[in-house]
Amino acid sequence: MKTVITYGTFDMFHTGHLRLLERAKQLGDKLIVGVTSDDYDLARGKLNVMQNCQERMESVRRTGLADLIIVEEEEGQKQLDIRKYKADIFAIGSDWVGKFDYLKEDCEVVYLERTQGVSSTDIRKDRYPIIRIGIAGSGRIAERFLKESKYVSGTEVYAVYGRREQHITDFAHKHEIPVTSTDYEHFLEAVDAVYIAVPHHLHADLARRALQAGKHVLCEKPMALTQAEAEELYALARQKGCILMEAIKTAYAPGFGQLVRVAKSGLIGHIAAVDAGFTKLVTNTSLREYDAAQAGGALTELGSYPLLAIAKLLGTRPVELRFQTLSSATHHVDIFTRVHFTYPGAVATATAGIGVKREGDLCIAGTKGYIYVPAPWWKTEYFEIRSEDSSKCRKYLIKFEEDGLRYEISAFLKRISGKTDIESSLSEEESVFIASVLEQFRKGTNVHYLAAGI
Ligand code: CTP
Repeated sequence: MKTVITYGTFDMFHTGHLRLLERAKQLGDKLIVGVTSDDYDLARGKLNVMQNCQERMESVRRTGLADLIIVEEEEGQKQLDIRKYKADIFAIGSDWVGKFDYLKEDCEVVYLERTQGVSSTDIRKDRYPIIRIGIAGSGRIAERFLKESKYVSGTEVYAVYGRREQHITDFAHKHEIPVTSTDYEHFLEAVDAVYIAVPHHLHADLARRALQAGKHVLCEKPMALTQAEAEELYALARQKGCILMEAIKTAYAPGFGQLVRVAKSGLIGHIAAVDAGFTKLVTNTSLREYDAAQAGGALTELGSYPLLAIAKLLGTRPVELRFQTLSSATHHVDIFTRVHFTYPGAVATATAGIGVKREGDLCIAGTKGYIYVPAPWWKTEYFEIRSEDSSKCRKYLIKFEEDGLRYEISAFLKRISGKTDIESSLSEEESVFIASVLEQFRKGTNVHYLAAGI
């Protein structure tokens, strides 16, 4: 009895995949097929996969060739699977020649000739036309978006909008963007979708106008500064049949998704407290962060991240929330704010600072142990379960590539292409909740001012 094992993503199942499985099967008596999990593909930078793991496994199942289908979750799993299933042969396409020779110490490694002229990448290109994205704004985050968008195939940054003509012309020239415009409606005509990266107080207006023009919108955080505004935007998106997403990058990152699933799995028992912080000392007070007219301040600038963690872990219906804040007497913006939440059976704090520094960590306390995510937790790459019982302690390491905007861009593209992402992401309800917390703070509801201003 010879067991053969093979692995792949098997997205948009095609004849190349079928021929590979047929030949792999012929090498032995039993065929095991490993299909990559969605998180694993994200973590290894394969961001263009259009079908989720269940759909891809179903394609493999329908061939009738696999005796067992398993999920490949992480780097290094192949060797363990080979030992676990006592595989005699590891088979893979010739595009991988040499890459899996290290498995030869455990079994025979066979590279099968790849079928010429067909690939998932080509099928995706044919089936899903390139989405032309326009960037509204040409500041620091727009630069990062451009760099990160290169990792997501199926998108092209095609136009840039801004109010300063010379600035956007220089930006477009530097990044080889074909269209520039200082007229927003004109800019919208050139694109399928918009990434909004202008100062906070302009987000909702530009999002609304883009949706009215029938364009999909990925809007920088905070998308809206009031609950009503956020609700109105989502309703408009639905009415227009457009995708609207708030760009809180952490929400779309594989590590954060895993963190939330682990926290809710019961491993640390009932979640009783969540404490999340994000501070960034901004010393140049001429920047937007210190401009009240541009909705600057610590909570609007950085609060979305800790509020996201709280919404994901405890939900969007706290019974009470209070704010403690320290503001700048000169600039009339908060330089440090802590939000205290009370939930049925749990409490939480969200801390943001632009003029006060603290550790940027996240702690999730449970009745059986706690999860600690060191700074910068919002680029979730590592977390630990800690418990009095050392046998229950665990460490998790998940990739978070560079600036991490690629995950939200990939999720945006998938949603535009009609794919619902079953991965970690941001729901409408969570996004509206974040806007409502910001609104209450800005209105002064339950706000305790720690000092007149420093
Ligand atoms: N394969 C093949 N012939 C092809 C395409 C894929 O033999 N024309 C093999 C691969 O070598 C691998 C398996 O099928 O052993 C799964 O490949 P996968 O990476 O899922 O397919 P691709 O079409 O190469 O995907 P992509 O374009 O996304 O890289």
